[in-house]
Amino acid sequence: MPIETTASVVAEVPDGAELLAVPYGSDLSPEVELHLPVGDLLAHYEAKGEAGEIVEVPVARADGVGRVLLYGVGDGSARALRKAGAALARRAKGRDTLTVVTPEGDVAAFAEAALLAAYSFKIGSEGKKPVRALAFAGADAAQVRRAQVVAQAVALARDLANTPSSVKNPAWLAERATERGLPVRVWDEEQLQADGFGGILAVGRGSVSPPRLIQLSYTPAEPTDRHVVLVGKGITFDSGGLSLKPTDNMKTQKTDMAGGAVVIAVLGALAELGAPVRVTGLIAAAENMPSGTAQRPSDVIKHYGGRTVEVLNTDAEGRLVLADALAYADAVLDPDAVVDIATLTGAITVALGRNVGAVYASDDVLAKQLLEAADGSDDRLWRMPLIDEYKPALESSIADLANVESGSRFGAGSITAALFLREFAGRRPWAHLDIAGVGRSTVDEGTLTKGATGFGVRLLLEWLTRA
Ligand code: BES
Ligand code: MN
Ligand code: ZN
Repeated sequence: MPIETTASVVAEVPDGAELLAVPYGSDLSPEVELHLPVGDLLAHYEAKGEAGEIVEVPVARADGVGRVLLYGVGDGSARALRKAGAALARRAKGRDTLTVVTPEGDVAAFAEAALLAAYSFKIGSEGKKPVRALAFAGADAAQVRRAQVVAQAVALARDLANTPSSVKNPAWLAERATERGLPVRVWDEEQLQADGFGGILAVGRGSVSPPRLIQLSYTPAEPTDRHVVLVGKGITFDSGGLSLKPTDNMKTQKTDMAGGAVVIAVLGALAELGAPVRVTGLIAAAENMPSGTAQRPSDVIKHYGGRTVEVLNTDAEGRLVLADALAYADAVLDPDAVVDIATLTGAITVALGRNVGAVYASDDVLAKQLLEAADGSDDRLWRMPLIDEYKPALESSIADLANVESGSRFGAGSITAALFLREFAGRRPWAHLDIAGVGRSTVDEGTLTKGATGFGVRLLLEWLTRA
């Protein structure tokens, strides 16, 4: 479901606003005339001025009791303002209109966080509704507009990933991509076969819902030579295949197309944000299921471009579909940079946890750009190393490569997965985002709701629009 909360800009705080939020600085001084003993109130509640802190004060209004929410903004940084915005939207749950006296600083970040905190995905009608409307007093309309576009893109990525796999199969994902108002090309199973996409076909073989490769193209109004390709993992359900997952690990795997969802959502928002670079999105979509037609551990497959891989574990399927798309991007699309995004390995959750995503890169300039975009956007990234000494982990005695290490001499599951992908990315600047840890949230908190996070949308939009 898209975010239903509306956001608007008002020039002034309307008289007698029923629910009004007013920031206070660390010196605890109010910024509008409230006819309230603000200093005393803050002292009474021992308010510290931290971001996310709210002191709620009932006030007399013509038709009953209204509320003023005095809110802290911490150090006023974008990160702090996001915390404040999210806390306000959460506090206003079930209410009609929250009028917000806008804080100093990054209003786009503040408004974006408030909107994201109002996101919900419900099949059924239980629970309090998010606040109906946010009115930002004194805000810059362009910043609020940007916040809306970005937040709706994140919401789309979350919706796609939260949709149950009984509804969501590769063809369904292709239909959703087709609704973005961009030129689109979809390879069905026959076309995949004809063009030699052996990895996507092998992973999809076990399912009654056949695989798809989806290509979306964005061209900016101003002609440009710069061309970026984004590649997303689009496994609409990852059962593990014949290398079947245990139930507890399997029940989260409807979100294994989170990377693909991010690519679809990002492509869909580029025009509205006026991104100055040409972007092609590729979503490698398949359902990984066990069956009589499924690929077997020990099968050898042939990827786009001809490289062969011995599939020793059918649960390492993400790299197989991505390899085809990366090889295709390199051979056909002639990009200046390729970035793939994938819920690729459980191992990255061990390394970086649930709050920070991994970036691997063959190119320092690209790595720096992505790390900077991450900092600005609140999708946090940490650069991981491509350790060449671990490459022998992927040797096969009968094929060009194996998809997993046979023993446990090298370990480093996320790094060896990245090394596998690098083999297919060619010599262009390439980066890989492993979002298995950050793609799904276990908490309902701040800008996050339980389930899909849309991690990557904000950082990629930041990178592609501010570059
Ligand atoms: N989709 C999973 C990775 C994953 C795990 C995403 C948990 C989100 C949460 C991926 O396809 C996978 O199964 N990876 C295996 C690789 C292994 C077989 C080398 C893993 O991490 O166990
Ligand atoms: Mn898997
Ligand atoms: Zn997977």
